[in-house]
Amino acid sequence: MRSACVLAVGGLSLAAVLMTSPAAGDALWPPVRSPVAKDPVLEARVDALLARMTLEQKVGQVIQADSDSLTPAEVRRYRLGSVLSGGNSAPGERPYATADEWLAAADAYYQASMDTNGVAVAIPIMWGIDAVHGHNNVFGGTIFPHNIGLGAANNPALVHAIAAATAKELRVTGHDWTFAPTLTVPQDDRWGRTYEGFSEDPALVAAYAPALITGLQGVAGTEDFLSADKVIATAKHFIGDGGTAGGRDQGDARMDEHTLRAVHGIVYERAIAAGVQAIMASFSSWNGRKVHGDSSLLTGVLRERLGFAGMLVGDWNGHGQVETCANESCPVAFNAGLDMFMAPDSWRGLYENTLGQVRSGAISMARLDEAVRRILLVKLRAGLFDADRPSKRRHAGDMAMLGHPDHRALARQAVRESLVLLKNNNQLLPLRPNQRVLVAGDGADNIAKQSGGWTLSWQGGGHGNDQFPKGQSIFSGIKAAVESAGGTARLAVDGRYAERPDVAIVVFGEDPYAEFQGDREHLAYDPAGEKELGLLRRLQAAGIPVVSIFLSGRPLWVNAELNASTAFIAAWLPGTEGGGISDVLFRRPDGAIKHDFSGRLSFSWPRTATQPPQNKGGPDYDPLFAFGYGLRYTDAGDLPLLSEDSGLAGDAATAKDTWFAKGRAVSPWRLVLRKPGMDEQPLAGAEGTSRAGRIRYGTGNRAQQEDTRRLTWLGAAATILLADGEGPDDRLDLRRQANGDMALAIELRIDQPPAAKVMLGVACGPDCAAVIDISAALRAVPMGEWHRLSVPLRCYQQAGADMAKISAPFMLTATAPFAFSFSDIRLASASAQDMACPGE
Ligand code: BGC
Ligand code: BGC
Repeated sequence: MRSACVLAVGGLSLAAVLMTSPAAGDALWPPVRSPVAKDPVLEARVDALLARMTLEQKVGQVIQADSDSLTPAEVRRYRLGSVLSGGNSAPGERPYATADEWLAAADAYYQASMDTNGVAVAIPIMWGIDAVHGHNNVFGGTIFPHNIGLGAANNPALVHAIAAATAKELRVTGHDWTFAPTLTVPQDDRWGRTYEGFSEDPALVAAYAPALITGLQGVAGTEDFLSADKVIATAKHFIGDGGTAGGRDQGDARMDEHTLRAVHGIVYERAIAAGVQAIMASFSSWNGRKVHGDSSLLTGVLRERLGFAGMLVGDWNGHGQVETCANESCPVAFNAGLDMFMAPDSWRGLYENTLGQVRSGAISMARLDEAVRRILLVKLRAGLFDADRPSKRRHAGDMAMLGHPDHRALARQAVRESLVLLKNNNQLLPLRPNQRVLVAGDGADNIAKQSGGWTLSWQGGGHGNDQFPKGQSIFSGIKAAVESAGGTARLAVDGRYAERPDVAIVVFGEDPYAEFQGDREHLAYDPAGEKELGLLRRLQAAGIPVVSIFLSGRPLWVNAELNASTAFIAAWLPGTEGGGISDVLFRRPDGAIKHDFSGRLSFSWPRTATQPPQNKGGPDYDPLFAFGYGLRYTDAGDLPLLSEDSGLAGDAATAKDTWFAKGRAVSPWRLVLRKPGMDEQPLAGAEGTSRAGRIRYGTGNRAQQEDTRRLTWLGAAATILLADGEGPDDRLDLRRQANGDMALAIELRIDQPPAAKVMLGVACGPDCAAVIDISAALRAVPMGEWHRLSVPLRCYQQAGADMAKISAPFMLTATAPFAFSFSDIRLASASAQDMACPGE
């Protein structure tokens, strides 16, 4: 039903909002003129190709599989249209692959696709990857600041140059297509993808869209367009991904159509006007309906109103979330207007089902032809039919192009321009370089941390500095600046010093995350003051001026850290060129200023941890630092003391995906004992023996007093579990996490090896459970040493758990003597090494 009342802003009843569908007529969504004109020559080529393709080939074209689940032989057999590499899907066994390994894989897929055996015509495959801040999955590539930092730079020419550099680096490894730019307009910074957005302000994102798209693809209508220096770009995620309620990833954007267009839609108009060749559908919903299944948006708005003529690709099994769909079957999404399914691991079933649906008429031949036509047109425009195999194309295998000095210089400039100076008491900055400088904090010498998520792996983090051969840590940049001027720079992560420093620089902030893994309940960085606050205060009390460099994917409530710092810089996620920070912090050796700060907040900075979302021009706008804020050296940068009351209490401060921390269950979870056929019994007190004498329990000290639990099975069977106190409404829905590479991580120490089987599992309500034999994994852990046991969530799914209704995320059963200690149980990114299921 199309409702006209949606044109009115505000004052809408909820019912009216929920009924909304895009309004008829072009008033709200003006037609956009694409610079990519319809080309009769290409259309005729497509006609000829379509006439010679089999039905099976056509169905293959509309399916994209992940390289981890697809062999070249399967490309030959199923004739898939595209392959993607997800954030953890590099060829080979390591979390990353070298350019040569990528290129060899590109050739293998391409050659399989070009094999004409059994077909009248071969269609070249197209390889897509998330080059979202440089060619970030590839060893040795330049990692640019994440978009949030580029937004603060407010420089369209700069992002254009970055996009052009990234396109060239993509060419080195044989990739044709990037899933970028992310044109999201995040409105609630609790969202884990906030940093993928340039700004909360649609105008800034809209101004960037053409700069990015022409940087990646070239300018439509010129020789440069999709030339051998360029790649296919994707504007994502259409539409409303940054507008979900509560900032929940893959959530529901509840708003009227006018707001949908004004905040989240105009950026797509700009992208289409710049000739973007691909758009990716959003995982999220609009007013309760998944975008992947919403024909009024995918066809009504995107095709009929905005006139988008490129290809519409789905997101990672995003179609499977549409009502009535599964990862292996979703005619609804295809009929709604999707041209290509992203079906990483589900492609085979999806292929068979889609083929069946075309045969049965559930999907019309016309719809299939239309989708294939769009895909072929993109491939033709990109020159894929006329190009040689990937390794023979321009820049292929050119190692010097990856992390090229020009690209690194550009990234370093971007770092300088992205820094936002929030506080500069007594005009501490710029610093003289010839001093004794103490550098502290776990972000100081940690390229993976300064680069954030989507860096060498999906979640990022945990990669040593040696895995960034051309990168520079922030400390290394500081050291170079200071030592060349005759000063000294000492690194001590914990901030201890023997010789009193003249100034301390403390680099700290959020650890890397991607997507839903970064969603949070509130915006306090460290409400309990357990991280760097003590260090900052110690330095402050000693009278040492402190410069805080804050690494984060979003503005966070850091009032206490601001108070304990003399100067404070929001550095976002700068990427591999850490030297950009010292460029701005220090004067030249002769005292002259090198680079002043120029960054300005493209996201409003919160006044409290629990304030309603703060967006420029939004209601109740009362941020601590407004949109556009950012000091220069010469500004009077003194900041008065701020309130340190976060407004949060107790367990609210602990991350929501942590169920057991420092030896204690995190509310609402309770650690209980369950005997076969019996009720649950809480383990009362710090130590004791269970009522029937099955288990002895106690505490231990790892880093702090009583921060671990120790359990000893005395002989009889017993199960220990983390149960929630409440009813079925409190069940955990872990479907998204099981679909991505998330794992249950337990920090444990074996005190006595198991004498018989030990089973680890989850419960999904009173009559639902799945267990996995972890005996062998436990026996492999060296006795008496702390170890992290990680079980991918999909293993529970495979064992039959209903991941939508987890009532106990941890359940451990032993039937014979066994003793172990554990400190933490939480969700974490599964590393490439521990992707296998125990017992497999
Ligand atoms: C993300 C997309 C990404 C895709 C492929 C999805 O989970 O939402 O942004 O392009 O994965 O890695
Ligand atoms: C992939 C990402 C993808 C995510 C979706 C991960 O396994 O590596 O690319 O975005 O799953 O949840």
